[in-house]
Amino acid sequence: MLKIADAATTSRHLDYSRLVEALDRGFAQGCVVPVRHHHTIEKDNQPDATLLLMPAWSKSSDEVRFLGVKLVTVFPGNMAKGLAGLTSTYVLYDGDTGLPLAMLDGNVITARRTVATSALAARYLSRKDSRKLLVLGSGRVASLIPEAYRTVRPIAEVSVWDINPEGAARMVTDLNNKGFLAFVENDLEAGVRNADIISAATLATSPLIQGAWLSAGTHVDLIGGFTPHMREADSEVVLRATVYVDTPESLHEAGDLRQPIASGLISPNHICGTLAELATAAIKGRSNPNQITLFKAVGSGLADLVAAKLVFDSL
Ligand SMILES: NC(=O)c1ccc[n+]([C@@H]2O[C@H](COP(=O)([O-])OP(=O)(O)OC[C@H]3O[C@@H](n4cnc5c(N)ncnc54)[C@H](O)[C@@H]3O)[C@@H](O)[C@H]2O)c1
Repeated sequence: MLKIADAATTSRHLDYSRLVEALDRGFAQGCVVPVRHHHTIEKDNQPDATLLLMPAWSKSSDEVRFLGVKLVTVFPGNMAKGLAGLTSTYVLYDGDTGLPLAMLDGNVITARRTVATSALAARYLSRKDSRKLLVLGSGRVASLIPEAYRTVRPIAEVSVWDINPEGAARMVTDLNNKGFLAFVENDLEAGVRNADIISAATLATSPLIQGAWLSAGTHVDLIGGFTPHMREADSEVVLRATVYVDTPESLHEAGDLRQPIASGLISPNHICGTLAELATAAIKGRSNPNQITLFKAVGSGLADLVAAKLVFDSL
């Protein structure tokens, strides 16, 4: 019987500690993630809409096999109607028979697997004693970052910077209500200098974090940029840091890496490796307390599938 989980139910079954562990196993195990499909849907008298299909399935050698597709609709014309411009649904199938098992809230899957992936990377890359977290952005993804990080590091203080100060203030109130010691950071340079971990989930198209501001031992986590034109950090950050990515696609899709590579400032060899290589211990994470580390993620269908399986198992 097809199980259905709305946003609240999907969220309830994606506890960050369990999700981080499941992602660690999932990245180590691997799965098949084909190229995502991108269809344009023409509209009269309003902007074109988009349908994105993001599939992933278990390897044939896996003991238990699943197949999943994230279906994302982007209808920019909805804004004028007061409706959400983006919706996302995850459909999970039995990987042996192709029979559908569950329909889950795709927005929740995306947001929670994204911050849990970053938290997992931070467990390999940040200093174990990281207490001060600076978050850039206060949107759907950014607002979840502190809770996910708290499961892997002893986060005692969260500062929030956003281009939209009201958004930052709302997020800080919410974090304080959840037991964090949180405050709005208006001085980005001071915030960067003071942080142990900096995590950015914004729509920025020009660099926010400057490498010259980074203190020794800082871990930088860039979540927001997913096109060659988006930037959250300048090239000095990339140059000073030991760099890791969620998947090799990050090198081609993310402006934060693609631009310094295109300008010849770094070669692709500057990237130390992927989360899968960290999870399988093929490569090492942080090697000393003074190292500056950087994790750049563009998102993976593997993480969606891992999260969907976790929800399905507890429905
Ligand atoms: N890496 C991944 O796996 C992954 C997954 C999901 C989302 N994302 C990306 O993360 C970003 C944030 O997603 P979201 O759903 O939280 O979006 P959102 O719209 O809810 O939040 C966007 C945030 O960015 C800020 N912002 C907007 N323009 C900015 C600018 N020019 N400079 C600085 N800040 C700016 C906004 O004030 C807001 O705080 C998007 O780019 C999204 O595509 C990445």
